[in-house]
Amino acid sequence: MPWDPRRYHQFQKERFAPFEDLLRLIKARSGLRVIDLGCGTGELTRRLADHLPESDVVGLDASREMLEQAQGQARLGLRFQLGAIEDVDGEWDLVFSHAALQWVAGHRTLMPRLLSLLPVGGQLAVQVPSNFDHATHEEIRDLAGCEPFRDALNGWVNELHVLPIREYADLLHAHGAGELNVFEKIYPHVLEDADAMVAWMQGTALVPYFDRLPKELHERFLRSYRDRLRRRFPERPVFYGFNRTLIAATRVR
Ligand SMILES: C[S@@+](CC[C@H](N)C(=O)[O-])C[C@H]1O[C@@H](n2cnc3c(N)ncnc32)[C@H](O)[C@@H]1O
Repeated sequence: MPWDPRRYHQFQKERFAPFEDLLRLIKARSGLRVIDLGCGTGELTRRLADHLPESDVVGLDASREMLEQAQGQARLGLRFQLGAIEDVDGEWDLVFSHAALQWVAGHRTLMPRLLSLLPVGGQLAVQVPSNFDHATHEEIRDLAGCEPFRDALNGWVNELHVLPIREYADLLHAHGAGELNVFEKIYPHVLEDADAMVAWMQGTALVPYFDRLPKELHERFLRSYRDRLRRRFPERPVFYGFNRTLIAATRVR
């Protein structure tokens, strides 16, 4: 998937708040074995590593473009490696993931699998966006179902992997987790206008669509999407209330 670090960084400030909230859910200890799944460009992995002194932290990501940038953050006790979240193994004291698991299918099997990588006492800390009913996403799905895009995409729309929040608590409890802290929070962002929403989505949700659409349809898709969001959000500035699900748990059995 062609992730673009430059575009992704455009809204980096907005991503700090959920990251800091997630960090506060971790019981910080020194000397932990930590993996950050879908570490992206690594700034937040670095912040995580700085928070956990004398720990051995690995940032894992499947995108060469993102990892190339992440390498600049590496230091003693912090390294980055190419790999798929689906294939992660080993034993870790903390399995961490910020804004990445939404790209991975099968959370009903993924979450128990991530728990199984922890010893008793190990921690899981995950943040996933849960705003897929927001107009920014609805309009992408709707547009992808309209011609000529539908035909070009072979009817493909990005399947939603994030589960209803209750299911995470149920799943984790059933698979040996305790000290559960699972909640949804709306992060209030005030953006300049609807075009800024489009720019945000270009760095994330639109990536797999543009990956599949032929180049000659990119501009057309973007123009239609922009027109739709401008109609739905004519005000300036525009409020973008962004739901995110935060999950923290400790393996207790
Ligand atoms: C929205 S970015 C989040 C990056 C970083 N954690 C942050 O919060 O800034 C999502 C990252 O997940 C990575 N990713 C998506 N699917 C993946 C997979 N199946 N395996 C590994 N990495 C994946 C992407 O390459 C991208 O860097």
